[in-house]
Amino acid sequence: ISLKNYNTFGIDVNAKKFISVSSSEELRKVLQQTYATEIFILGGGSNMLLTRDINKTVLHIGLTGRQIISETENEVVVEANAGENWHQFVLWTLDHDFGGLENLSLIPGNVGTAPIQNIGAYGVELKDVFESCTAIRIQTLEEINFKPEDCEFGYRNSVFKQRLKGEYIITSVRFRLSKTQHKLHTGYGAINDWLIREKITKPGIKDISNAVIAIRQSKLPDPRVLGNSGSFFKNPVIRREEYLKLQEKFPGIPSYPIDENLVKVPAGWLIDKAGLKGYRRGDAGVHQNQALVLVNYGEATGEELLDLSYEIKNQIYSEFGIKLEAEVNIF
Ligand code: EPU
Repeated sequence: ISLKNYNTFGIDVNAKKFISVSSSEELRKVLQQTYATEIFILGGGSNMLLTRDINKTVLHIGLTGRQIISETENEVVVEANAGENWHQFVLWTLDHDFGGLENLSLIPGNVGTAPIQNIGAYGVELKDVFESCTAIRIQTLEEINFKPEDCEFGYRNSVFKQRLKGEYIITSVRFRLSKTQHKLHTGYGAINDWLIREKITKPGIKDISNAVIAIRQSKLPDPRVLGNSGSFFKNPVIRREEYLKLQEKFPGIPSYPIDENLVKVPAGWLIDKAGLKGYRRGDAGVHQNQALVLVNYGEATGEELLDLSYEIKNQIYSEFGIKLEAEVNIF
């Protein structure tokens, strides 16, 4: 079976076997009947580059459902099952006037994979509102509850991407959201610009969401139209001395300070500056509006996209002395 419709890059590779499960019971049954090493877990397929056929059973996590778990006067804990589409879930919370996820509007993918890379955008990360998640340990079928401190969240990173990689399947995630006195995150320049342009002087969470949607739509390609996986690389973190040297050569280089010694530099800016924005090799390309996003114009293979990413890495290293690291998972 082809996985083309199950990864947002739209890469046409085949799986030996494909099973979609829609409940925890079904999931357990499949896990009982299949060797752990024979399983390849697939969520929303929005953060992966498949480079070859998968000679395993692809297990599609299709668990849906969302609910309110508990609430006080000011806060609510909501839960969504892993197979819920992320953006549809965000819209559901906004319809209830629950605040906290608005800056994370329109991120592709499913709820269950969101904690793995601690999704983030426009000044908010999943970890800021994460309450807990439940996961099934593939080897033993135990159900484990992960608190924030167990997840070791970092920039586009968590324990599920590192120490526990491939060991657990996240089945549901809980978020702690606000019901009153929503805390708005408008610090990101483009959000403020949009609010001013739309003449919104007293924004609410729905306005922030609309701003984020508009900004994302203007820069980021819609995976249904043009295959992509969002940011392909992480924004590299470099030493301040190194940054100051680069600044002498490239006065316009943007930066986000991390601490006294470290600075994060936007990879999109570096790739753009290197003249690679809009660069295309066959059907594999660098997006025209956002150089951090690689796109599949139709028939690109995973290997072609991977080769393009190596070419970009090499060029950025030779021009800036910076080593880029992939943000998407490569198989
Ligand atoms: N820039 C350019 N040219 C480009 C792209 C960016 O000069 O082609 C410059 C921009 O002008 C800006 C800076 O680079 O000064 C940063 O760009 P932008 O604000 O678009 O954000 P980013 O650093 O490229 C990160 C996340 C995105 C997230 C946005 C907004 C990572 C790896 N990426 O991108 O996340 O939506 O910030 O918060 O951290 C994703 O992870 O898939 C993703 C899309």
